[in-house]
Amino acid sequence: MSENGKKVLKAGIIGIGVIATTKHIPNLLKRDDVEIIALCDTDVSKCKEAIEKFGLQAVIYTDYKEMCRDQEIDVIHVCTPNPLHCPITLEALAHGKHVHCEKPLACTYSDAQKMVEAAKAAGKKLTSGLQWRYNAAPLKIKEMIKNGELGDVYYVKSQQLRPRRLPAYGVYTSKEQNGGGVLMDGGPHSIDLPMWLTDNYEVESVRGVTFDKMKNFPEGNDLGPWDPENFDVEDTAMAMITMKNGMMIYMETAWATNMIQEAPGVTISAAGTKAGADMVGPTFECSVRTTKIVDGKLKTEIENIPEPVDMNAYDINHWIDAIQNDTDPAVLPEQAATVTRVIEAIYESARTGETIHF
Ligand SMILES: NC(=O)c1ccc[n+]([C@@H]2O[C@H](COP(=O)([O-])OP(=O)(O)OC[C@H]3O[C@@H](n4cnc5c(N)ncnc54)[C@H](O)[C@@H]3O)[C@@H](O)[C@H]2O)c1
Repeated sequence: MSENGKKVLKAGIIGIGVIATTKHIPNLLKRDDVEIIALCDTDVSKCKEAIEKFGLQAVIYTDYKEMCRDQEIDVIHVCTPNPLHCPITLEALAHGKHVHCEKPLACTYSDAQKMVEAAKAAGKKLTSGLQWRYNAAPLKIKEMIKNGELGDVYYVKSQQLRPRRLPAYGVYTSKEQNGGGVLMDGGPHSIDLPMWLTDNYEVESVRGVTFDKMKNFPEGNDLGPWDPENFDVEDTAMAMITMKNGMMIYMETAWATNMIQEAPGVTISAAGTKAGADMVGPTFECSVRTTKIVDGKLKTEIENIPEPVDMNAYDINHWIDAIQNDTDPAVLPEQAATVTRVIEAIYESARTGETIHF
């Protein structure tokens, strides 16, 4: 039992790369009601390094199916490349585990639906790592929208333009191994944030465009040069997403572009009939600028939120609390599945030049 009288959950993590070792393991370790008892990676050295670095007492698996059969494990975190999200999650759910699956939930909508249905059938919880919702500024803007301070919100813009921050490690530039490019990486956050802010996942249609213009210009990348020979994905994507209630979302995401976005992460601007709100740089994650008419004049005001929110800790804490208290996870699997459906529609629209209707 933990200090708060809860059962200590036994966790296993699959895919011991960057996200497992920067978000999942450190934040699980902060809790006294979770114990990491197993790690799985096809590359054993990744497990050994993590065990050493974090002082874990964990069994090592190289086959995720074998790990899923471990009866001691209550919860599995899936941190592998994207095409493995669906098969691993289905395997884990079939063995009665709760599953935190990194974003994107799946590479196709039909796989995402299978995962949502499998979680329901198993009576287990499923969530996905859409933690960019949980910065202080989006949380504040969401509260403003909920309170009616912005009025009728009819347009939300979400932007994540990285001038040169392409993940040149792992499998990110391979369609076969990553399922796609930046749309599968920054895309899920950029698509989820506007829908989550407005509590609206009812998509009417999607028109998208993708580019791979930068693949032959690997110099100057923050994360080292990439290999243009092993690069068959998009580096930039834009989409207009029209919602059933008429609201419009414009989303742009890029790994490499000769444009400077003031803030380094995903930023949001929301326009409503009473006021607009956006995240402003350089402290974008903690600053909200509102624009509205006061006494007949346009007034802008910046509120700096004193306490930042640790979005990664927020994600993991909400997830573990949902299991412990038998409540819904903050990121509902149906929301993550809709995000995957939008990504699929952007690819389809970019390929055909058509608007995709849901
Ligand atoms: N939520 C976020 O903001 C965020 C940020 C980064 C990455 N991610 C997601 O996390 C996942 C992993 O990304 P990363 O940057 O950590 O990649 P990474 O390449 O650093 O790590 C992936 C690990 O999975 C292992 N692996 C591959 N096949 C496996 C298999 N069959 N069984 C077990 N392990 C296997 C690899 O050896 C590697 O160690 C991706 O889905 C990515 O989209 C999410």
